[in-house]
Amino acid sequence: MDTLKVGIIGMGGIGNTHAGVYSDDEKADLIAVCDIIKEKADAAAEKFGATAYYSVAEMLKHEKLDAVSVTTAGQENGGDHFVPVMEALEAGLHVLCEKPLSNDVARAREMVRKAEEKELYLGTNLNHRFVPLAYKAKEWVDSGKLGDLLFINMELWIENPNETSPFFHFRALHPHSLDVMMYYCGFAKRVHAFAMRPKGRINWSNISVNIEFENGAIGHLSGSYDAGRLNERCQVAGTGGQFVLDQVYEKLTFYPRRGGDVEVYHNPPEGEEGHCSGFGDTFIHRIRHWVRQVLAGVPRNEIDASGVHGLAAQEIIEGAIKSFQTGTVVEL
Ligand SMILES: NC(=O)c1ccc[n+]([C@@H]2O[C@H](COP(=O)([O-])OP(=O)(O)OC[C@H]3O[C@@H](n4cnc5c(N)ncnc54)[C@H](O)[C@@H]3O)[C@@H](O)[C@H]2O)c1
Repeated sequence: MDTLKVGIIGMGGIGNTHAGVYSDDEKADLIAVCDIIKEKADAAAEKFGATAYYSVAEMLKHEKLDAVSVTTAGQENGGDHFVPVMEALEAGLHVLCEKPLSNDVARAREMVRKAEEKELYLGTNLNHRFVPLAYKAKEWVDSGKLGDLLFINMELWIENPNETSPFFHFRALHPHSLDVMMYYCGFAKRVHAFAMRPKGRINWSNISVNIEFENGAIGHLSGSYDAGRLNERCQVAGTGGQFVLDQVYEKLTFYPRRGGDVEVYHNPPEGEEGHCSGFGDTFIHRIRHWVRQVLAGVPRNEIDASGVHGLAAQEIIEGAIKSFQTGTVVEL
């Protein structure tokens, strides 16, 4: 297979972002776009030169696709993902699903099980870590430059006044931050959380989460929908030194524990491989990587940001919600 024949299900803003990435990728062929709202499917079809469908079943009946992006939304931005993901997997297609894999963790488990049963790739669009500075930081962790991992501090906040449900903020935003934490520290073992909401909000829009990882490292996440413009900062400390990754892709600093120079790296300049002109470019890096991993046939358990990772983030989120509701530490 030289190119991946792709369809997209859900042509809102994010579906159109995926469409733009596939259209510009010489390794992908965007064949079909699908939305239950006819005008959205038609507009995207015209813009990207694809065929419009108004139901997943019709698209699967008429097109020979290799893979789909599922970019629907729904309750807590993930309630509509389950049905189209299961339809596509049942039809033998690889699936890249937007986050959260599902806002219902039982359904997320079923999606991962179905992909396993059908021996198909299931990816999650956890795009925040698909940037050169994150790859460099990960190499440092894997090569032992940081020594043994001690702790991680993660901050992620954006302005989001939406009031859809009490746990919208936990479930819709923090697949990203928790995925970044697991990228460096591995899977989590135990979780504890507090949450607060300003007067008048029904959504628990500020969270403070503590995690113990399987490898013994510990971590903390501060999340907010009230604290202003995008802030994302990740600090990882080990027995040999620590790094700070500022604003997803902008600046990475290594501080040796004893002696040695502080190392500072920046977003590659425009025109250089890996440059990010803005947060939107994380979609380009992530989706191109997905296309190449599927085409290369990498072992299913080795694909980056797989359904298993998307599910692991949802498991922590549900554990954090339970911890907050019960005032206990929750084993995952
Ligand atoms: N990775 C990121 O950085 C990032 C950023 C923002 C949003 N997202 C995610 O992207 C997803 C989409 O967000 P959005 O803002 O584009 O949502 P949206 O509501 O604007 O668009 C979703 C579209 O899906 C369509 N749809 C729903 N069910 C369908 C079905 N069964 N078949 C066909 N079409 C269907 C709807 O009609 C709608 O047009 C969400 O899951 C959200 O969490 C990811």
